[in-house]
Amino acid sequence: MARFIRRMAIAYIFLLFLASADIGFFRGVASFGINYGQIGDNLPQPEKVVELLSSLRITRARIYDTNPQILTAFANSGIELIVTVENEILNQLDDPQQALQWVSSHIKPYLPNTKITGIQVGNEVFTDDDTALIHYLVPAVVNIHNAIGQLGINQNIQISTPSSLAVLDQSYPPSAGSFKSEISGIMYQFLNFLSSAKSPFWINAYPYFAYKDDPTGISLDYVLFNPNQGMVDANTKLHYDNMLYAQVDAVAFAIAKMGFNGIEVRVSETGWPSKGDPDEVGATVQNASTYNRNLLRRQMANEGTPLRPRMRLEVYLFALFNEDSKPGPTSEKNYGLFQPDETMTYNVGLSALASSTSTSSASISLTSSATRTKASPREYRSPVHWMFAYLLSSILLMRRTP
Ligand SMILES: *[C@@H]1O[C@H](CO)[C@@H](O)[C@H](O)[C@H]1NC(C)=O
Repeated sequence: MARFIRRMAIAYIFLLFLASADIGFFRGVASFGINYGQIGDNLPQPEKVVELLSSLRITRARIYDTNPQILTAFANSGIELIVTVENEILNQLDDPQQALQWVSSHIKPYLPNTKITGIQVGNEVFTDDDTALIHYLVPAVVNIHNAIGQLGINQNIQISTPSSLAVLDQSYPPSAGSFKSEISGIMYQFLNFLSSAKSPFWINAYPYFAYKDDPTGISLDYVLFNPNQGMVDANTKLHYDNMLYAQVDAVAFAIAKMGFNGIEVRVSETGWPSKGDPDEVGATVQNASTYNRNLLRRQMANEGTPLRPRMRLEVYLFALFNEDSKPGPTSEKNYGLFQPDETMTYNVGLSALASSTSTSSASISLTSSATRTKASPREYRSPVHWMFAYLLSSILLMRRTP
């Protein structure tokens, strides 16, 4: 009898393990990232933001600085955080001692409770109006990389920088992707770093900008991920049914042309404004909702781009909140999935995930509806999934043994 109870207890523990791992599995499927910008005078406190992200089961976020209040609030939340070195201080970090000092005071104190997984050195430095800035980039990147190594905190932190699509000279068709010649010298050094550090290349890619500039020449369905005939790259014969993937692959081709293979391209920002000025064509709530909803479905299906179909495209949406203090046209203030009061700007389907007690079924329905719209559905099974299937069968067998 005691043995039976012990067996039941073991089986019970395994089942608990299985249940929690299963939630983790689906959480993994849905784990896109989100950009948490703070250029607003009415945004919720960081503690509230952590609650919001947790309730939405969003496990990755990026901030545009190293705000101590945010780094503290994210402690023990399990949310992976990418932080940013502000462009304004890049020039100080070409001194290795200063870089070490910066990492010691801005990063190290928050580890490991706050899961800092990346440091973005500057933002869109290659195309900044201040053309002197670009010369500080590679020294700062290298010095910060060395500093985290020296401090022994380099295991889970990747160093990179996000670039705007304006780094490309050519982006269409994707195979013609190439970097602008005026930045190619420093780009080569930067790619050399990424290649040896095994860090990804991050791109801020907004199909919205391309559409806004040429609404009669570009198909709205193509930029919104709606069903459409797409385009075929005549050089590679690859078929593209949306502009975001074409932009990402153009970057991958540009990198390959510089002689580097195997650098992963990730999307540090993409999004669609829900409101704009009269001349900002396409900036409506419905279009923003369609863009983000369609993109999230593809994220949940773990899609890669046509060039790298098996490598899940990592995407960080822009942005979590509407930011009322952003300069520029009306659209700039209206990229948020949420209003500052934490109400949804529009429903992208996240609420179904969040409010449902049965996370897995909500994820499954989103995943399968995404697969249906795809030309060639690909089954996704994590190895972890099979491992637990195996464990479950062992438990059943164990219980039958006399
Ligand atoms: C999306 O943008 C286009 C172009 O401005 C506009 O004609 C259309 O009405 C918008 N669609 C929706 C559903 O808002």
